[in-house]
Amino acid sequence: MDAIHIRGGKALFGETRIQGSKNAVLPLMAAALLIEDVCMIENCPCISDVYHMQQLLNGIGCKVKCTGHVMTIDARNIEEDIMAGENVTGMRSSIMLLGAMLGRVGTITMDYPGGCVIGERPIDLHLNALRKMGVSILEKESCFTAKVRTLEGTVIRLPISSVGATENIVLAAVMAKGVTVLQNAAKEPEIVTLCEFLREAGAVIEGIGGSSLIIQGGHALHGIRFRVPSDRIVAGTYLMSVMGTGGHIFLEDAPIAQMRSMLKVAEEMGAEIDISREGISVIADADKRALSYLKTEVYPGFPTDMQSPLMAALSTARGVSVIEETIFENRFRIVDQLKKMGACIELQGNRQAVIVGVDSLLGCEVAAEELRGGAALVIAGCMALGETVVTNRHFIERGYEDICRDYQNLGADIYIG
Ligand code: UD1
Repeated sequence: MDAIHIRGGKALFGETRIQGSKNAVLPLMAAALLIEDVCMIENCPCISDVYHMQQLLNGIGCKVKCTGHVMTIDARNIEEDIMAGENVTGMRSSIMLLGAMLGRVGTITMDYPGGCVIGERPIDLHLNALRKMGVSILEKESCFTAKVRTLEGTVIRLPISSVGATENIVLAAVMAKGVTVLQNAAKEPEIVTLCEFLREAGAVIEGIGGSSLIIQGGHALHGIRFRVPSDRIVAGTYLMSVMGTGGHIFLEDAPIAQMRSMLKVAEEMGAEIDISREGISVIADADKRALSYLKTEVYPGFPTDMQSPLMAALSTARGVSVIEETIFENRFRIVDQLKKMGACIELQGNRQAVIVGVDSLLGCEVAAEELRGGAALVIAGCMALGETVVTNRHFIERGYEDICRDYQNLGADIYIG
Protein backbone atom coordinates (compact mmCIF):
# COMPACT_ATOMS: atom_id res chain seq x y z
CA MET A 1 0.00 0.00 0.00
CA ASP A 2 1.17 3.57 -0.70
CA ALA A 3 3.08 5.22 2.10
CA ILE A 4 3.54 8.81 3.28
CA HIS A 5 6.87 10.29 2.16
CA ILE A 6 8.30 13.34 3.91
CA ARG A 7 11.48 15.22 3.04
CA GLY A 8 11.97 16.84 6.40
CA GLY A 9 14.43 18.94 8.32
CA LYS A 10 12.88 22.31 7.59
CA ALA A 11 10.74 24.72 9.54
CA LEU A 12 6.96 24.86 8.92
CA PHE A 13 5.36 28.08 7.67
CA GLY A 14 1.76 28.45 6.57
CA GLU A 15 -1.82 28.07 7.67
CA THR A 16 -4.31 25.27 7.62
CA ARG A 17 -7.94 24.87 8.65
CA ILE A 18 -8.74 22.34 11.36
CA GLN A 19 -11.27 19.63 10.42
CA GLY A 20 -14.29 18.57 12.46
CA SER A 21 -13.66 16.37 15.48
CA LYS A 22 -13.58 12.58 15.13
CA ASN A 23 -14.28 11.86 18.78
CA ALA A 24 -17.20 14.30 18.75
CA VAL A 25 -18.90 13.19 15.54
CA LEU A 26 -18.91 9.44 16.23
CA PRO A 27 -21.10 9.66 19.38
CA LEU A 28 -23.35 12.13 17.53
CA MET A 29 -23.90 9.57 14.80
CA ALA A 30 -24.87 7.07 17.49
CA ALA A 31 -27.15 9.68 19.10
CA ALA A 32 -28.93 10.26 15.77
CA LEU A 33 -30.03 6.64 16.02
CA LEU A 34 -32.21 7.59 19.02
CA ILE A 35 -34.14 10.08 16.93
CA GLU A 36 -36.97 8.80 14.74
CA ASP A 37 -36.39 11.62 12.33
CA VAL A 38 -33.72 13.16 10.08
CA CYS A 39 -30.61 14.88 11.50
CA MET A 40 -28.05 16.95 9.62
CA ILE A 41 -24.51 17.03 10.93
CA GLU A 42 -22.31 19.80 9.53
CA ASN A 43 -18.52 20.02 9.54
CA CYS A 44 -18.36 16.24 9.50
CA PRO A 45 -14.76 15.06 8.92
CA CYS A 46 -14.22 12.76 5.91
CA ILE A 47 -12.27 10.05 7.75
CA SER A 48 -12.45 6.28 7.67
CA ASP A 49 -13.90 5.92 11.20
CA VAL A 50 -16.86 8.05 10.13
CA TYR A 51 -17.23 5.94 7.01
CA HIS A 52 -17.28 2.75 9.11
CA MET A 53 -19.91 4.21 11.45
CA GLN A 54 -21.93 5.21 8.38
CA GLN A 55 -21.75 1.62 7.12
CA LEU A 56 -22.89 0.31 10.50
CA LEU A 57 -25.90 2.63 10.58
CA ASN A 58 -26.82 1.85 6.98
CA GLY A 59 -26.51 -1.86 7.80
CA ILE A 60 -29.32 -1.67 10.38
CA GLY A 61 -31.68 0.26 8.16
CA CYS A 62 -30.79 3.95 8.60
CA LYS A 63 -30.19 6.06 5.53
CA VAL A 64 -26.92 7.91 6.00
CA LYS A 65 -25.52 10.12 3.26
CA CYS A 66 -22.53 12.40 3.21
CA THR A 67 -22.27 15.28 0.75
CA GLY A 68 -19.00 17.08 1.25
CA HIS A 69 -18.88 17.74 4.96
CA VAL A 70 -22.61 17.53 5.59
CA MET A 71 -24.01 14.24 6.78
CA THR A 72 -27.70 13.44 6.74
CA ILE A 73 -28.91 10.64 9.00
CA ASP A 74 -32.43 9.38 8.49
CA ALA A 75 -33.10 6.99 11.38
CA ARG A 76 -36.86 6.65 10.89
CA ASN A 77 -36.53 2.93 10.18
CA ILE A 78 -34.42 0.42 12.08
CA GLU A 79 -34.61 -3.08 10.64
CA GLU A 80 -31.72 -5.01 12.18
CA ASP A 81 -30.36 -5.54 15.68
CA ILE A 82 -27.14 -7.37 14.81
CA MET A 83 -23.81 -5.65 14.23
CA ALA A 84 -20.82 -7.72 13.28
CA GLY A 85 -17.66 -7.68 11.22
CA GLU A 86 -14.83 -5.30 10.60
CA ASN A 87 -16.81 -2.09 11.05
CA VAL A 88 -17.40 -3.16 14.67
CA THR A 89 -14.16 -4.92 15.50
CA GLY A 90 -11.92 -2.32 13.81
CA MET A 91 -13.27 0.66 15.71
CA ARG A 92 -13.67 1.26 19.44
CA SER A 93 -16.47 3.77 18.88
CA SER A 94 -18.80 1.09 17.60
CA ILE A 95 -19.51 0.47 21.30
CA MET A 96 -21.52 3.73 21.29
CA LEU A 97 -24.16 1.89 19.34
CA LEU A 98 -24.82 -0.31 22.35
CA GLY A 99 -26.44 2.43 24.43
CA ALA A 100 -28.12 3.89 21.36
CA MET A 101 -29.65 0.60 20.18
CA LEU A 102 -30.88 -0.25 23.68
CA GLY A 103 -32.46 3.20 23.85
CA ARG A 104 -34.09 2.87 20.46
CA VAL A 105 -35.09 -0.79 20.07
CA GLY A 106 -34.13 -2.44 23.38
CA THR A 107 -31.87 -5.11 21.91
CA ILE A 108 -28.55 -5.58 20.16
CA THR A 109 -26.14 -8.38 19.37
CA MET A 110 -22.67 -7.15 18.53
CA ASP A 111 -19.09 -8.30 18.14
CA TYR A 112 -16.71 -6.90 20.75
CA PRO A 113 -15.39 -3.54 19.56
CA GLY A 114 -11.77 -3.02 18.56
CA GLY A 115 -9.83 0.21 18.04
CA CYS A 116 -6.26 1.32 18.55
CA VAL A 117 -3.91 -1.15 20.23
CA ILE A 118 -3.04 1.23 23.06
CA GLY A 119 -3.98 -0.95 26.00
CA GLU A 120 -6.54 -3.42 27.26
CA ARG A 121 -9.57 -1.25 26.53
CA PRO A 122 -12.21 -3.45 28.19
CA ILE A 123 -15.94 -2.57 28.15
CA ASP A 124 -16.80 -3.71 31.68
CA LEU A 125 -17.75 -0.19 32.82
CA HIS A 126 -20.19 0.15 29.91
CA LEU A 127 -21.80 -3.22 30.58
CA ASN A 128 -22.01 -2.86 34.36
CA ALA A 129 -23.67 0.56 34.11
CA LEU A 130 -26.22 -0.70 31.61
CA ARG A 131 -26.95 -3.72 33.81
CA LYS A 132 -27.79 -1.24 36.58
CA MET A 133 -30.32 0.30 34.21
CA GLY A 134 -32.07 -3.05 33.84
CA VAL A 135 -30.27 -4.46 30.79
CA SER A 136 -29.52 -8.19 30.69
CA ILE A 137 -26.32 -9.06 28.89
CA LEU A 138 -25.23 -12.42 27.62
CA GLU A 139 -21.49 -12.44 26.92
CA LYS A 140 -20.11 -15.02 24.49
CA GLU A 141 -16.61 -15.48 23.17
CA SER A 142 -16.61 -13.06 20.24
CA CYS A 143 -19.95 -11.26 20.65
CA PHE A 144 -22.57 -10.35 23.21
CA THR A 145 -26.32 -9.81 23.28
CA ALA A 146 -27.92 -7.05 25.35
CA LYS A 147 -31.67 -6.80 25.92
CA VAL A 148 -33.98 -4.60 27.93
CA ARG A 149 -37.74 -4.19 28.13
CA THR A 150 -37.67 -0.76 29.80
CA LEU A 151 -34.48 1.13 30.59
CA GLU A 152 -34.69 2.36 34.17
CA GLY A 153 -33.15 5.60 35.38
CA THR A 154 -30.88 5.05 38.38
CA VAL A 155 -27.78 6.34 40.19
CA ILE A 156 -24.53 5.22 38.58
CA ARG A 157 -21.07 6.01 39.88
CA LEU A 158 -18.26 5.28 37.44
CA PRO A 159 -15.13 3.90 39.14
CA ILE A 160 -13.04 5.50 36.34
CA SER A 161 -14.12 8.61 34.40
CA SER A 162 -14.37 6.71 31.13
CA VAL A 163 -15.22 8.82 28.10
CA GLY A 164 -16.90 6.00 26.19
CA ALA A 165 -18.85 4.66 29.18
CA THR A 166 -20.12 8.17 29.99
CA GLU A 167 -21.31 8.58 26.40
CA ASN A 168 -23.02 5.19 26.37
CA ILE A 169 -24.81 5.84 29.66
CA VAL A 170 -25.99 9.26 28.47
CA LEU A 171 -27.36 7.70 25.27
CA ALA A 172 -29.28 5.05 27.19
CA ALA A 173 -30.41 7.45 29.94
CA VAL A 174 -32.16 9.93 27.64
CA MET A 175 -34.49 7.09 26.61
CA ALA A 176 -34.89 5.62 30.12
CA LYS A 177 -37.88 5.83 32.42
CA GLY A 178 -37.11 8.30 35.20
CA VAL A 179 -33.98 10.14 36.21
CA THR A 180 -30.41 8.89 35.82
CA VAL A 181 -27.71 10.47 37.96
CA LEU A 182 -24.25 9.76 36.61
CA GLN A 183 -21.44 10.47 39.07
CA ASN A 184 -17.75 10.70 38.22
CA ALA A 185 -18.72 11.25 34.60
CA ALA A 186 -15.93 12.11 32.15
CA LYS A 187 -15.79 15.84 31.34
CA GLU A 188 -14.11 15.71 27.92
CA PRO A 189 -15.37 18.32 25.43
CA GLU A 190 -16.81 15.56 23.24
CA ILE A 191 -19.22 14.67 26.06
CA VAL A 192 -20.33 18.28 26.27
CA THR A 193 -20.95 18.19 22.51
CA LEU A 194 -22.99 15.00 22.79
CA CYS A 195 -25.10 16.42 25.63
CA GLU A 196 -25.67 19.68 23.72
CA PHE A 197 -26.73 17.74 20.63
CA LEU A 198 -29.20 15.69 22.64
CA ARG A 199 -30.48 18.75 24.48
CA GLU A 200 -31.14 20.54 21.20
CA ALA A 201 -32.99 17.44 20.04
CA GLY A 202 -35.27 17.62 23.09
CA ALA A 203 -33.48 15.71 25.87
CA VAL A 204 -33.27 17.11 29.40
CA ILE A 205 -29.73 16.96 30.77
CA GLU A 206 -28.31 19.00 33.64
CA GLY A 207 -24.74 19.43 34.82
CA ILE A 208 -23.25 19.43 31.31
CA GLY A 209 -19.47 19.90 31.50
CA GLY A 210 -19.31 18.75 35.13
CA SER A 211 -18.62 15.39 36.75
CA SER A 212 -22.28 14.77 37.75
CA LEU A 213 -24.82 14.52 34.97
CA ILE A 214 -28.54 14.40 35.70
CA ILE A 215 -30.60 13.06 32.84
CA GLN A 216 -34.38 13.05 32.81
CA GLY A 217 -35.29 10.28 30.45
CA GLY A 218 -38.25 9.79 28.20
CA HIS A 219 -38.57 13.18 26.49
CA ALA A 220 -39.49 13.00 22.81
CA LEU A 221 -36.53 13.72 20.50
CA HIS A 222 -36.73 15.43 17.12
CA GLY A 223 -34.35 15.88 14.18
CA ILE A 224 -31.90 18.79 14.30
CA ARG A 225 -29.11 20.44 12.36
CA PHE A 226 -25.86 20.52 14.33
CA ARG A 227 -22.28 21.63 13.67
CA VAL A 228 -19.39 19.44 14.84
CA PRO A 229 -16.68 21.42 16.67
CA SER A 230 -13.11 21.39 15.34
CA ASP A 231 -10.80 18.57 16.33
CA ARG A 232 -8.61 19.51 19.31
CA ILE A 233 -6.30 16.55 18.74
CA VAL A 234 -5.75 17.31 15.05
CA ALA A 235 -5.01 20.95 15.99
CA GLY A 236 -2.69 19.69 18.73
CA THR A 237 -0.89 17.45 16.24
CA TYR A 238 0.02 20.44 14.06
CA LEU A 239 0.90 22.47 17.16
CA MET A 240 3.40 19.76 18.15
CA SER A 241 4.71 19.64 14.59
CA VAL A 242 5.80 23.26 14.67
CA MET A 243 7.23 22.70 18.14
CA GLY A 244 9.33 19.96 16.58
CA THR A 245 10.46 21.76 13.42
CA GLY A 246 10.27 25.41 14.42
CA GLY A 247 8.54 27.98 12.22
CA HIS A 248 5.36 30.02 12.24
CA ILE A 249 1.94 28.48 11.57
CA PHE A 250 -1.67 29.51 11.88
CA LEU A 251 -4.32 26.96 12.84
CA GLU A 252 -7.61 28.30 11.57
CA ASP A 253 -10.73 27.34 13.58
CA ALA A 254 -8.64 25.57 16.25
CA PRO A 255 -10.84 24.95 19.32
CA ILE A 256 -8.84 27.23 21.60
CA ALA A 257 -10.85 26.78 24.80
CA GLN A 258 -10.33 22.99 24.61
CA MET A 259 -6.58 23.29 24.03
CA ARG A 260 -5.41 25.15 27.15
CA SER A 261 -3.25 22.30 28.49
CA MET A 262 -1.52 21.79 25.13
CA LEU A 263 -0.91 25.52 24.63
CA LYS A 264 0.57 25.75 28.12
CA VAL A 265 2.96 22.89 27.32
CA ALA A 266 3.94 24.51 24.01
CA GLU A 267 4.69 27.76 25.87
CA GLU A 268 6.79 25.91 28.43
CA MET A 269 8.79 24.53 25.52
CA GLY A 270 9.37 28.06 24.27
CA ALA A 271 6.56 28.79 21.79
CA GLU A 272 5.03 32.19 21.29
CA ILE A 273 1.27 31.72 21.06
CA ASP A 274 -1.19 34.30 19.85
CA ILE A 275 -4.89 33.59 20.11
CA SER A 276 -7.61 35.30 18.09
CA ARG A 277 -11.22 34.58 17.18
CA GLU A 278 -10.05 33.01 13.93
CA GLY A 279 -7.56 30.58 15.42
CA ILE A 280 -4.10 30.13 16.91
CA SER A 281 -0.81 31.54 15.67
CA VAL A 282 2.29 29.69 16.87
CA ILE A 283 5.87 30.87 16.49
CA ALA A 284 8.46 28.35 17.60
CA ASP A 285 12.19 27.89 17.44
CA ALA A 286 13.52 24.45 16.47
CA ASP A 287 15.74 24.83 19.56
CA LYS A 288 13.13 24.12 22.23
CA ARG A 289 13.18 23.42 25.95
CA ALA A 290 12.64 19.93 27.38
CA LEU A 291 9.81 19.30 29.88
CA SER A 292 11.13 18.05 33.21
CA TYR A 293 7.89 16.11 33.87
CA LEU A 294 4.52 15.81 32.20
CA LYS A 295 1.73 13.35 32.80
CA THR A 296 -1.33 12.64 30.70
CA GLU A 297 -4.61 13.24 32.49
CA VAL A 298 -8.33 13.34 31.98
CA TYR A 299 -9.69 16.66 30.67
CA PRO A 300 -8.78 19.45 31.29
CA GLY A 301 -5.33 17.87 31.79
CA PHE A 302 -2.91 17.05 28.98
CA PRO A 303 -4.66 14.48 26.71
CA THR A 304 -3.33 10.97 26.29
CA ASP A 305 -4.03 11.29 22.56
CA MET A 306 -1.37 14.04 22.41
CA GLN A 307 1.27 12.01 24.22
CA SER A 308 2.94 10.50 21.12
CA PRO A 309 2.93 13.77 19.13
CA LEU A 310 4.53 15.49 22.15
CA MET A 311 7.12 12.74 22.45
CA ALA A 312 8.12 13.21 18.80
CA ALA A 313 8.55 16.97 19.33
CA LEU A 314 10.54 16.47 22.56
CA SER A 315 12.94 14.02 20.91
CA THR A 316 15.10 16.98 19.78
CA ALA A 317 14.48 19.28 22.78
CA ARG A 318 17.35 20.73 24.79
CA GLY A 319 17.66 18.53 27.91
CA VAL A 320 15.83 15.58 29.41
CA SER A 321 12.04 15.18 29.42
CA VAL A 322 9.94 12.71 31.36
CA ILE A 323 6.45 11.70 30.25
CA GLU A 324 4.14 9.59 32.37
CA GLU A 325 1.13 7.94 30.71
CA THR A 326 -1.67 7.58 33.24
CA ILE A 327 -4.66 6.67 31.04
CA PHE A 328 -3.64 3.71 28.87
CA GLU A 329 -1.10 1.05 29.77
CA ASN A 330 0.37 0.41 26.32
CA ARG A 331 0.75 3.75 24.66
CA PHE A 332 4.49 3.99 23.99
CA ARG A 333 4.48 1.93 20.82
CA ILE A 334 6.23 4.59 18.74
CA VAL A 335 9.35 4.55 20.90
CA ASP A 336 11.08 1.87 18.81
CA GLN A 337 10.22 3.72 15.60
CA LEU A 338 11.52 7.04 16.96
CA LYS A 339 14.70 5.30 18.13
CA LYS A 340 15.15 3.98 14.59
CA MET A 341 15.20 7.64 13.54
CA GLY A 342 17.92 8.43 16.10
CA ALA A 343 15.87 9.46 19.13
CA CYS A 344 17.19 8.63 22.59
CA ILE A 345 14.26 7.36 24.67
CA GLU A 346 14.24 4.96 27.56
CA LEU A 347 11.11 3.32 28.88
CA GLN A 348 10.74 2.78 32.62
CA GLY A 349 8.01 0.15 32.76
CA ASN A 350 5.11 0.78 30.42
CA ARG A 351 3.98 4.01 32.05
CA GLN A 352 7.04 6.29 31.96
CA ALA A 353 9.37 7.44 29.19
CA VAL A 354 12.60 9.40 29.58
CA ILE A 355 13.55 11.36 26.48
CA VAL A 356 17.07 12.72 26.13
CA GLY A 357 16.99 15.36 23.38
CA VAL A 358 19.26 14.68 20.39
CA ASP A 359 20.52 17.24 17.82
CA SER A 360 18.43 15.84 14.98
CA LEU A 361 16.42 12.86 13.80
CA LEU A 362 17.34 11.04 10.60
CA GLY A 363 14.77 9.99 8.00
CA CYS A 364 14.15 6.27 7.41
CA GLU A 365 11.22 3.90 6.91
CA VAL A 366 8.94 3.63 9.93
CA ALA A 367 5.61 1.89 10.46
CA ALA A 368 2.48 3.40 11.99
CA GLU A 369 0.86 0.96 14.43
CA GLU A 370 -2.06 3.07 15.56
CA LEU A 371 -3.72 6.41 14.88
CA ARG A 372 -2.01 9.06 17.04
CA GLY A 373 1.31 7.23 17.10
CA GLY A 374 1.15 7.22 13.30
CA ALA A 375 0.56 10.98 13.22
CA ALA A 376 3.51 11.39 15.59
CA LEU A 377 5.73 9.59 13.09
CA VAL A 378 4.68 12.13 10.45
CA ILE A 379 5.75 14.86 12.90
CA ALA A 380 9.08 13.08 13.35
CA GLY A 381 9.38 12.87 9.55
CA CYS A 382 8.91 16.64 9.25
CA MET A 383 11.67 17.12 11.84
CA ALA A 384 14.11 14.55 10.45
CA LEU A 385 16.93 15.20 7.99
CA GLY A 386 16.48 13.35 4.69
CA GLU A 387 13.48 11.29 3.66
CA THR A 388 11.09 9.49 6.01
CA VAL A 389 8.59 6.94 4.76
CA VAL A 390 5.63 6.22 7.06
CA THR A 391 3.90 2.96 6.14
CA ASN A 392 0.45 1.73 7.30
CA ARG A 393 -1.12 5.08 6.60
CA HIS A 394 -4.61 3.59 6.96
CA PHE A 395 -4.21 3.97 10.73
CA ILE A 396 -3.66 7.71 10.30
CA GLU A 397 -6.60 8.01 7.91
CA ARG A 398 -8.90 6.81 10.69
CA GLY A 399 -8.68 10.30 12.16
CA TYR A 400 -7.01 12.73 9.73
CA GLU A 401 -9.02 13.76 6.70
CA ASP A 402 -6.02 14.52 4.49
CA ILE A 403 -2.86 14.82 6.54
CA CYS A 404 -0.68 15.47 3.47
CA ARG A 405 -2.90 18.37 2.34
CA ASP A 406 -2.72 19.91 5.82
CA TYR A 407 1.06 19.58 6.04
CA GLN A 408 1.48 20.92 2.49
CA ASN A 409 -0.53 23.97 3.63
CA LEU A 410 2.06 24.30 6.40
CA GLY A 411 4.88 24.19 3.88
CA ALA A 412 6.04 20.59 4.37
CA ASP A 413 7.47 18.52 1.52
CA ILE A 414 5.12 15.56 1.92
CA TYR A 415 3.28 13.28 -0.49
CA ILE A 416 1.74 9.82 -0.86
CA GLY A 417 3.67 7.50 -3.12
C1 UD1 B 1 -11.79 7.88 24.33
C2 UD1 B 1 -11.25 8.44 23.03
C3 UD1 B 1 -9.74 8.23 22.94
C4 UD1 B 1 -9.07 8.81 24.17
C5 UD1 B 1 -9.71 8.27 25.46
C6 UD1 B 1 -9.18 8.93 26.71
C7 UD1 B 1 -13.04 8.23 21.44
C8 UD1 B 1 -13.57 7.55 20.23
N1 UD1 B 1 -11.89 7.78 21.92
O1 UD1 B 1 -11.53 6.47 24.32
O2 UD1 B 1 -9.28 8.90 21.77
O3 UD1 B 1 -7.71 8.44 24.16
O4 UD1 B 1 -11.13 8.49 25.43
O5 UD1 B 1 -9.36 10.32 26.64
O6 UD1 B 1 -13.62 9.17 21.93
N2 UD1 B 1 -11.71 1.45 30.83
C9 UD1 B 1 -12.00 0.30 31.52
N3 UD1 B 1 -13.23 -0.28 31.30
C10 UD1 B 1 -14.15 0.23 30.44
C11 UD1 B 1 -13.83 1.42 29.74
C12 UD1 B 1 -12.59 2.01 29.96
O7 UD1 B 1 -11.21 -0.20 32.30
O8 UD1 B 1 -15.24 -0.33 30.29
C13 UD1 B 1 -10.38 2.09 31.03
C14 UD1 B 1 -9.53 2.08 29.76
O9 UD1 B 1 -8.85 0.86 29.59
C15 UD1 B 1 -8.60 3.25 30.00
C16 UD1 B 1 -9.49 4.23 30.80
O10 UD1 B 1 -10.58 3.46 31.31
O11 UD1 B 1 -7.51 2.85 30.78
C17 UD1 B 1 -10.03 5.38 30.00
O12 UD1 B 1 -10.66 4.89 28.83
P1 UD1 B 1 -11.91 5.64 28.15
O13 UD1 B 1 -12.03 7.00 28.72
O14 UD1 B 1 -13.08 4.74 28.21
O15 UD1 B 1 -11.42 5.74 26.64
P2 UD1 B 1 -12.26 5.50 25.34
O16 UD1 B 1 -13.65 5.98 25.53
O17 UD1 B 1 -12.02 4.12 24.86
